[in-house]
Amino acid sequence: MSGTYETKHAETGSAPTPLIEVTGLHKQFASGGRFRRSRRSVHAVDDLAIRIHAGETFALVGESGCGKSTTARLMLSLQQPTSGDIRYKGTPLSMMSEAERRDYRRRVQVVFQDSNSSLNPRKRLGTILTTALTVSGAVADARRAVARAHELMEDVGLSPSASFFDRYPHELSGGQRQRVGIARALAPEPELIIADEPVSALDISVRAQILQLLQRIQRERSVAYLFISHDLSVVRWVAHRVGVMYLGRLVETGPVESVFTRPVHPYTEVLINATPVADPERAQLRHVHVVSGDVPSTTERPSGCPFHPRCPLAVETCRSEVPELLPVGEAHAAACLRATERVEGLRLP
Ligand SMILES: Nc1ncnc2c1ncn2[C@@H]1O[C@H](COP(=O)(O)OP(=O)(O)O)[C@@H](O)[C@H]1O
Ligand code: SF4
Ligand SMILES: [Mg+2]
Repeated sequence: MSGTYETKHAETGSAPTPLIEVTGLHKQFASGGRFRRSRRSVHAVDDLAIRIHAGETFALVGESGCGKSTTARLMLSLQQPTSGDIRYKGTPLSMMSEAERRDYRRRVQVVFQDSNSSLNPRKRLGTILTTALTVSGAVADARRAVARAHELMEDVGLSPSASFFDRYPHELSGGQRQRVGIARALAPEPELIIADEPVSALDISVRAQILQLLQRIQRERSVAYLFISHDLSVVRWVAHRVGVMYLGRLVETGPVESVFTRPVHPYTEVLINATPVADPERAQLRHVHVVSGDVPSTTERPSGCPFHPRCPLAVETCRSEVPELLPVGEAHAAACLRATERVEGLRLP
């Protein structure tokens, strides 16, 4: 899966309107004690910008608590942003008519990490899927919904469908339940599926099968994915482009090949180096880096570059100046004050 819309169209200047475009997105939550004075804001998402094109996979990666799921909830309209803009095919969500919003909710679907809690335990699989088909308006009548539910089950590998139709979620394995979650997301014929850690709860042996299923679905239906994960080895395998998040901000973004082979932001490099490598010779060639300190609290965001307390390359200006996300290569951008030195060949000491 190499080559991206961004790189291809940047050359010709004919970039199409993205399927979804997020700009200047902020989400703050009130946090703290009961008394107003002790309350502080959690900056879960801070000035985020993302573009996803039809049929591509954009991965959002970062440590737990960096704002990935909040971004997903904002894009699914499950929460309202504090400020910022989410556009679907060029139309801001805030300007949509009721009919356009219904269409948006149908075309943007979600697959959660924990399919166990996202499937109604009292509903049989057939009912879960026929309901998703009729409620979304993807099919008009009940008979057609039953036939389509069988097709969907076969499509996601729940075969023969007749042996699954009347089962309950608890009668399935974790991998099979995630297949139901994927079938349910496919029922309304989405254009974008937001997959929030879709394989993190699964056994290693099942992960590859579910990832291959998601890839086949993309080839066959040209569906786009916002693929959320803390696991970089998975991201490298499935995504076209990647965005690295730290404390609610995007610190590096670009084509997967470029970001993984030439990471510019020190945080990206640390994340990559922390990913297990099967080949011991390759592992030895790495600049091994362990960042000191814990992830700062989202209520006590450091001044200047948010990564400075943990950054092995931090200099005095990093304490006061907030780095912007600036181009460092073809369709590749990073938010680091020392990005130019890094691009010119200086690696972490
Ligand atoms: N409803 C909420 N109220 C207060 N804080 C929240 C809420 N939802 C998320 N947060 C905080 O926002 C930050 C980002 O959370 P989240 O988006 O779930 O991160 P991730 O998915 O990357 O682990 C965390 O500090 C989390 O505690
Ligand atoms: S701006 Fe400074 S502290 Fe931030 S990542 Fe770059 S070198 Fe490190
Ligand atoms: Mg999450």
